[in-house]
Amino acid sequence: MSVLITGGLGHVGSWVAYLLAKQGKKVIICDMAANHFERMGLNYLEEVRDQLILESVDMLDYHSVFEVLLRHRDELEGVIHSVSVIAGPYFQEHPFKHLSINAMGTLNVYETCRILGIQKVVNMSSGAVYGDAQGPQHEDTPYKATDLYGASKISGELYGLQYSDTYGMDIRNARLFFVYGPGKRPSHMHKVYQGLFGPLEGLDNIQAPNGSEQSLDWTHVYDTASGIIKLFEAEQVTHRNFNISSGVPVDHLKIVEEVASVVGKKTNVKLGPGPFVVRGSPLDISRARKELGFEPRFTDIREGIEDYYKWLQAAQT
Ligand SMILES: NC(=O)c1ccc[n+]([C@@H]2O[C@H](COP(=O)([O-])OP(=O)(O)OC[C@H]3O[C@@H](n4cnc5c(N)ncnc54)[C@H](O)[C@@H]3O)[C@@H](O)[C@H]2O)c1
Repeated sequence: MSVLITGGLGHVGSWVAYLLAKQGKKVIICDMAANHFERMGLNYLEEVRDQLILESVDMLDYHSVFEVLLRHRDELEGVIHSVSVIAGPYFQEHPFKHLSINAMGTLNVYETCRILGIQKVVNMSSGAVYGDAQGPQHEDTPYKATDLYGASKISGELYGLQYSDTYGMDIRNARLFFVYGPGKRPSHMHKVYQGLFGPLEGLDNIQAPNGSEQSLDWTHVYDTASGIIKLFEAEQVTHRNFNISSGVPVDHLKIVEEVASVVGKKTNVKLGPGPFVVRGSPLDISRARKELGFEPRFTDIREGIEDYYKWLQAAQT
């Protein structure tokens, strides 16, 4: 059997694809970037290339989404839906386009699965659905959007819950939080990510506009991907929403300090005042621990940073 991952060349999706392929599964990756795979430097996916089928699809192009899922339907265990434009200042710059990708792209996947009889879908949602509610935020903490991205993730969850109830589908939401680690270079990310992790890639003299007054549960991508797979593979779940994060809030200035210590020299990083994004922290991960057996490996940020550093160094050679 195979698993189809939308956005499977993205940071989280690529690790989900890798870990599933390592288990011996065939993985169908649907991603707009599929034609650029060879140039993306995803060395871990190259290691399992024989088990991957790459499909270049725009999630907003409903007919293409339908065609691809129809072509693979008979071999599919289910779908893991990852395509989204992630939170951050860029989201607000093109709100209609980004909301469309997050909301319509998600609906296109649910609707195709409904018509084709594909029951199981794990949707990558976000702790953004809690907005700035004070942590620890349990899955029963009420929805609150503090930005358009949060609103789009809430709508994605609600569509999924209603598709499940109305059509007997099994759509589960994995609420992720602030992912870092191998697969994405700080230089390809927002200034605050560059401020936090950039020196690991040799970036210096970074002035980020904000972020110095915040603690968030940054989660190593390996843990994020492992939690998603556990949710996908669980035979039965008694809930549809699961927080998947490290569960440990870390002060941003401590990350800057640890990164400097890992690279072994003083860095010239300045994070401006205030939070990076309006969020509470941490997520309470006790439900995922108990029901899925999820246990994050990198709860000590230092270990996660060291692992990220190793990957970035190897990727540069
Ligand atoms: N990264 C985080 O910190 C974080 C936190 C919480 C939730 N999430 C959620 O996790 C999911 C994955 O996040 P990520 O960090 O891996 O994102 P990412 O930006 O690294 O990956 C997104 C992938 O989707 C593809 N894509 C974008 N638009 C597309 C379209 N219209 N059609 C087809 N493919 C398209 C991109 O090519 C990319 O490979 C998202 O749903 C995001 O909202 C991420």
